[in-house]
Amino acid sequence: MKNIAVFASGNGSNFQAIIDAVEAGKVDASIKLLVCDRENAFAIERAKKAGIPQFVFSAKDYASKADYEKEILFRLNELGVEFVILAGYMRLIGAVLLSDFEGKIVNIHPSLLPAFTGKDAIGQALKARVKMSGVTIHFVDAGMDTGPIIAQQAVGVSADDTRESLQEKIQKIEHELYPQILHELFTAGEEKQ
Ligand code: GRF
Repeated sequence: MKNIAVFASGNGSNFQAIIDAVEAGKVDASIKLLVCDRENAFAIERAKKAGIPQFVFSAKDYASKADYEKEILFRLNELGVEFVILAGYMRLIGAVLLSDFEGKIVNIHPSLLPAFTGKDAIGQALKARVKMSGVTIHFVDAGMDTGPIIAQQAVGVSADDTRESLQEKIQKIEHELYPQILHELFTAGEEKQ
């Protein structure tokens, strides 16, 4: 079983999907910590309800990204965290976390990367009038949504899709795909039962 930390900045519906999958025995992991950079994020309520400890910080209280990442790193190490799972965490991961967790940080992004990196990928897809968008799960590197891709799933975009309807379709995929891929990642190399 892998010890993991989830990083989120907002609603945390993907975080919830991971919590539910862990509780149902579908993801072989123990969620040791929620790391959150917004004190009013709903993800914090989800962690409280599930009995998961939270580290909530405000970047402006630190002189630099390296400073707050050092504090996060200390907590991750203290808890024996092996994988960092980003679920709507709105900050770029910096050198401090990347060097200690190389190849062990995973992100989910609401587009078929490398298309539509960064913020508002769903809005970008609608504006470009693509016929197909989707979900990408990838390892995190120093770039913005640029690391090696682990899994992707496509979704059709219709002419009458709105931001809400496309987001709904994408999140439905995310909530199934993320736990499934994480489980595969965490159990890779283990003998099949
Ligand atoms: C998801 O769409 C994810 O792909 C992106 O941010 C969104 C987070 O949503 N990185 P939620 O907070 O998990 O509901």
